[in-house]
Amino acid sequence: MALQNINPTKTAAWQKLTNHFNEIKDVHLKTFFNENQNRKSDFTLNVNNFEFDYSKNRISEKTLELLLELANECDLKGAMDAYFSGEKINATEKRAVLHTALRNQTAKEIFVDGENVVPEIKAALSKIESFTEKVVSGDWKGYTNKSITDVVNIGIGGSDLGPDMVVESLKYYKNHLNVHFVSNIDGDHVRESIKNLNPETTLFVIVSKTFTTQETLTNATTIKKWFLQSASEADVAKHFVAVSTNLESVSNFGIASDNIFPMWDWVGGRFSLWSAVGLSISLAVGFKNFNNLLIGAFEMDEHFKNTPFEKNAPVLLSLIGIWYTNFFKSESEVILPYAQYLSKLAPYLQQAIMESNGKSVDRNGERVTYQTGNIIWGAPGSNSQHAFMQLLHQGTKLIPADFIGFKESLYGEKEHHNKLMANYYAQMEALAIGKTKEEVHLDLKTQGKLNEVSTLLPYKVFEGNKPSTSILIDKLSPKTLGSLISFYEQKIFIQGVIWNIYSYDQFGVELGKELANKLYKKA
Ligand code: F6P
Repeated sequence: MALQNINPTKTAAWQKLTNHFNEIKDVHLKTFFNENQNRKSDFTLNVNNFEFDYSKNRISEKTLELLLELANECDLKGAMDAYFSGEKINATEKRAVLHTALRNQTAKEIFVDGENVVPEIKAALSKIESFTEKVVSGDWKGYTNKSITDVVNIGIGGSDLGPDMVVESLKYYKNHLNVHFVSNIDGDHVRESIKNLNPETTLFVIVSKTFTTQETLTNATTIKKWFLQSASEADVAKHFVAVSTNLESVSNFGIASDNIFPMWDWVGGRFSLWSAVGLSISLAVGFKNFNNLLIGAFEMDEHFKNTPFEKNAPVLLSLIGIWYTNFFKSESEVILPYAQYLSKLAPYLQQAIMESNGKSVDRNGERVTYQTGNIIWGAPGSNSQHAFMQLLHQGTKLIPADFIGFKESLYGEKEHHNKLMANYYAQMEALAIGKTKEEVHLDLKTQGKLNEVSTLLPYKVFEGNKPSTSILIDKLSPKTLGSLISFYEQKIFIQGVIWNIYSYDQFGVELGKELANKLYKKA
């Protein structure tokens, strides 16, 4: 058996955490900071180009100690060994979970069913590289002998969100190709996406691991029909490529075998941007940048794999997440990148996290009696401050926040960047420290508004004690983005292990698909 079945609530650590929770649940972050002048440095980890500051979380040294005990009792170490070595930890689908192999930079062999998969991964990467070079250089010609100007990624879920998010995040590093994403089965979305495209200079990348997904097949068929209004069947090979595990269906669709990029069943859709599913990324920013994305992810994997748990960023931050979900009973987590480039990070993480850990049956096949997968949401700051941050500051819900910031901006607009980062730090401080009645009273007095104290004072108080984590990164680059994504992927794994659930299947999406098919046939 690949993963053990350990009910976390039956561990000694869980009981200790329950008692400990009652002791510290009302301690204010101000008190934690007053009691330990070194709290910020004690609760900060530097990993490569990242600084993880988790000091503004409602934890003490003891909380971390007990959470680490929980990780040990739940055999996190054993689970990690099984995960990295290609055991079939996706037991319900009888599959290994090896997206980490796609970015592995060592000479290590990695086996699935007794077969070393490293050569196949390398071959796929060189196919991505040579194809990218041909298209980007203009050597790849369309049916009227013109070079490609536009690329359309046709896919949905993991075959869309990851590539789309990375292409948006790495816009600064982009070449001349315009990359578009068509995902929704909404025909208006399809028509809007293609309305200004020239079929002579457009390349379509159909991405579907299964090649059975209704949205992708319908959209690809509509687009092919549109293409054939001006071109012929023989021209399809110059304009359509596919990424899939289902070679038969791809060739039935009319795609030349040379134009098929591989996928493997040991890579989950939502973890697949590192494979040829990321072809649109490679086309948008060039293969070198795509490869740097992989290297960045590998570096975070190595940190996760080789660092003792008490200094391990994905481990500590996953455990802190469990502390909020299962003890403070918080239901959501907000992701706040202070970079407009990362505007698609939250939607991407919604699939990665919620499709993985939105489960209610444990690895024994029993209904869990505790909360699992959180609701993930978010948007870039400073925009979010003028939208939903009111609820975090003064609402009734406890919502742990991840602030993601960069030390440097890309265009070097210093004044903007300093203001942006002042907001980044101000928000975290306001959430943590708040503003007392006395401070509000003093403010009103200073403003000569003492007559308003009786009516306004309670509305202007900020309780504070709202948790946040700062993930401060040197600079947004393919490498640091790769590390950031890997950090969240590892959190998904760790939390799934502790919650004793299977993170890598997604049966919850099936019923709706089945019913939609039935309803569609009746219509
Ligand atoms: O419906 C959910 C899902 O299966 C996702 O897990 C997956 O990323 C998406 O659909 C697309 O699947 P495919 O790549 O097979 O078209």
